[in-house]
Amino acid sequence: MSQQPSYDYENVLVEISDGIAWVALNRPDKRNAMSPALNEDMRGALIELEGDDRAQVVVLTGVGEAFSAGMDLQAYFRDVDKAHPSVQIHVRRVNAEWQWRHLQDYSKPTIAMVNGWCFGGAFVPLVSCDLAIAAEDAVFGLSEVNWGIPPGSVVSRALAETVSSRDALYYIMTGETFDGTAAEKMRLVNSAVPRQQLRQAVTELADNLKDKNPVVLRAAKIGYRKSRLMSWELADDYLYAKLEQSQYLDSENGRESGLQQFLDEKSYRPGLGSYDRTQNAVDS
Ligand code: COA
Repeated sequence: MSQQPSYDYENVLVEISDGIAWVALNRPDKRNAMSPALNEDMRGALIELEGDDRAQVVVLTGVGEAFSAGMDLQAYFRDVDKAHPSVQIHVRRVNAEWQWRHLQDYSKPTIAMVNGWCFGGAFVPLVSCDLAIAAEDAVFGLSEVNWGIPPGSVVSRALAETVSSRDALYYIMTGETFDGTAAEKMRLVNSAVPRQQLRQAVTELADNLKDKNPVVLRAAKIGYRKSRLMSWELADDYLYAKLEQSQYLDSENGRESGLQQFLDEKSYRPGLGSYDRTQNAVDS
């Protein structure tokens, strides 16, 4: 059993309940705008959660009425503009580390729960989470063009990852807002639900993911993310290596159990829930 972290952060609230880590950006007075200090806290929280056995699924959300109003225009931009170049590099690096490097390579499943305002820089962690569910009335916007700046960091790259060019360019170029229902339609999020059902919908999705073999789930999602930009030749070799890696690391012997229960015992059919994960498990 690994040591349990305390998650003592000023700008991030972490609650772990029944295998789900609810990670909330916690600057409600500033609509959870992402300052350098918040970015440091998020980087720390994600690293700690990765080693915390109590957390099987990580949910990213915001305290109060915002998911996040994007980068903090004062603390991240104006204040840092005046800083030494080495400070600017550090601030940008920490930002990138949690918002996309850690999240896109995260060993546990991640879900963005978009509870409200989601602007500019907030699109990066939103897209970097594996899955996303929004409140129907959450408001999204790429407002940068109206601030006299193009979308910075990798916001435009995140858009290109998820929505069509027509939708991306329309919202990048007009700065118009759209709601959770529209975000679902353009596949920026998996689904949009009435606000009162948001937490329940995310809990149900997290519970589904919690039931999966974690080693196989990790190999499956990382395999998808990394192979997308490979040639078919490289992807073929890489994904077979991933499959073999997961068999090697899987103390539950999932593949053997699944095949045994389907082929020999006829006790399991895919599509009707999970195979019995305890059958061939060895204590690790
Ligand atoms: N950076 C810094 N501060 C921000 C911020 C941001 N991105 N977004 C909100 N805040 C601050 C406001 O300055 C205000 O601070 P104050 O109380 O010290 O005056 C506080 O958060 C509340 O903001 P307010 O605008 O009064 O809240 P609201 O509920 O009426 O509106 C938003 C919420 C999100 C619609 C609005 O704050 C907004 O448009 N924010 C900017 C979003 C944006 O364009 N982000 C992209 C940046 S590139």
